Amino acid sequence: MHWDVQVFPELNSTQDLCKQIASDGKPEGFVIQALQQMCGLGRLGRTWIMQEGNLALSFILRPKSCHASQIGQISILIGVALAKAIGEKAVLKWPNDILVNNKKCAGVLIDSDLSAEMLNWLVVGIGVNTSQAPPIGSALNVDRDEFCGQMLTQIEALYELWQDEGFGDIRKQWLQRTFPKGSALNVGEFETIDDFGNLIVRDGQNQLKTISAGDVFLKDQNYVAGN
Ligand code: BTN
Repeated sequence: MHWDVQVFPELNSTQDLCKQIASDGKPEGFVIQALQQMCGLGRLGRTWIMQEGNLALSFILRPKSCHASQIGQISILIGVALAKAIGEKAVLKWPNDILVNNKKCAGVLIDSDLSAEMLNWLVVGIGVNTSQAPPIGSALNVDRDEFCGQMLTQIEALYELWQDEGFGDIRKQWLQRTFPKGSALNVGEFETIDDFGNLIVRDGQNQLKTISAGDVFLKDQNYVAGN
């Protein structure tokens, strides 16, 4: 894949512009980055406040013959790539938040376009607190452009691995970088993720439950979802 990065001094949302460009037919690998983002979009209808010096970008993927049920695999893949770019201190929180010192330092938003359950395109939006963070978040204190390059390299490598060999190894890598099995989450005890990237937890009746959307956090920590 070839990355084609277009940098804008200011945008309302890289995600909105990138979705527009994807529906106009731009190819995979097209990246929209904003140095300032005024109305950033977060998961579950939230807003994403980008502070000065942080990274905000969105890019297009067009995986071939990809069923809607596999979008969760790509979401997991992006989380692993971000964690690898950050290093040992990064911990993954389902579905694709990245925590450093138990606080969120990066978030991922994925939009998709489908025809008859098959994927036309995905737009992956990533916000990283490379330089500053709100009180409930953490910052990496790294050079934004250098980090951006490392992150795109990791994403490209894992995307190729996923296309060539499937989800198995990426799933294992994600499990090595998340909370230990048995951790008490708000939705039950953490068990694993399944072959589609869904979260599996054990509920109070010792039954396994599959969770495919929503917010998850550790019960014993005052972690606030969102930014
Ligand atoms: C989340 O809620 O954790 C996801 C946050 C995603 C924010 C990024 S910043 C770049 C891209 N453009 C947006 O408007 N949102 C995403």
